[in-house]
Amino acid sequence: MRLLKITFVKEADVEILKKHVCNTLKLRRKCELDRKNLIQFLMECDKQKEMLTDEAILSQVAGLFLASFDTPANLLAVLAYELAINQDIQDKLIKEVDEILKKCTNELSKTILVYLQLELGIVLPFLITETLRLWPTTTFTDRVSVKPYMIQPKTENEKPLQVDVGTYFWLPIYALHRDPKYFPNPTKFDPERFADKNKEKIQPYTFIPFGIGPRGCIASRFALLETKVIIFHILSKFRIATVEETEMPFMLSKKSINAVSDSGPVLGLQMRKTQ
Ligand code: HEM
Repeated sequence: MRLLKITFVKEADVEILKKHVCNTLKLRRKCELDRKNLIQFLMECDKQKEMLTDEAILSQVAGLFLASFDTPANLLAVLAYELAINQDIQDKLIKEVDEILKKCTNELSKTILVYLQLELGIVLPFLITETLRLWPTTTFTDRVSVKPYMIQPKTENEKPLQVDVGTYFWLPIYALHRDPKYFPNPTKFDPERFADKNKEKIQPYTFIPFGIGPRGCIASRFALLETKVIIFHILSKFRIATVEETEMPFMLSKKSINAVSDSGPVLGLQMRKTQ
C-alpha cells in the first residue's frame, strides 16, 4: 500500500484529525484536565502500559471515527433506498410506525426507544437485517492465526490445508451474504428471510454484518437502535421516495473497500399528512 501510495483516507482529512488530537493531548497534559472520554481513556492506557504513542492514540481515534460514523450512515442510506424502491414494504413500516406512535400518545419519546429496543416493531428489525445482508458496509474482515491449525477437506477434490501461526485470513462478508448456497435468489431484497418462520434456514456464520466472536463489532446493538430511531423519526413525518436523480440500480463505488455508493443514493422526502 505504501509503495503504491494507496490510502484509505484523504491526506487532508488525516491532517485535520491529527491537529485536533495532538492539540487536545497537549492541552490535557499541560493543564492536567480530566475528561471522561475516549482521549482521556487512551491517555490513561498510555500511563499504565507505557506503550501508546501519540501516533497510536491518533490511529485509535481515527479507527473509532471511521468504524462508528460511516457504517450506520451507510446502513441508513441503503435502508432508505430499499424503502424508496419497495413502496409496499414502506407502507407496512409506516403502518407499524403509526401504531407504535399511537401507543406512545403521539410523542417521540423515551417510550418509543423502549418499544424499538424490545423489538416490538415486527417489520423494522427484519428490514434492517435484510439491508445488512444485501448491503453489508464492511465487505470483509480479517483475522490472524495464533495457533497452528489443520483445515480438513470437505470434498474429495480438496486437500487438507495447514495454517501456520501468523497466517492472515480475509473473511468475505459481502460474498457470503450474496452466495446463493446460503441465501437463495441473493440479489432480491426479501426481509421475510429473517422472519421467525425462516430464521432456522440461515446457516451459522453465513450472516456476519457485524463480524463475529470476541473481536466482533463493539457497538452492533447501539448501531441497530440508532438506525431504528432515525428511520422511525423520518417515517413519522415523511415518506421516502425515488426522484429523477436516483440511480437505479444502486451502484457500489469502485473507489472504496466498503460497500458504499459514490453519489448517494439521492432520494426524496414527501411530507406525510399529520396523523
Ligand atoms: C451498522 C453499523 C455498523 C456495522 C455494519 C459495523 C460493522 C463492523 C464489523 C464488520 C466489524 C469487524 C468485526 C470483526 O472483525 O469480527 C466492526 C468492528 C468494530 N466496530 Fe462496528 N459496525 C457498525 C457500527 C459501529 C459503531 C456505531 C461503532 C462505535 C460506536 C463501532 C465500533 C467498532 C469497533 C471499535 C470495532 C473493532 C472491534 C475490535 O477490533 O475489537 N461500529 N464493526
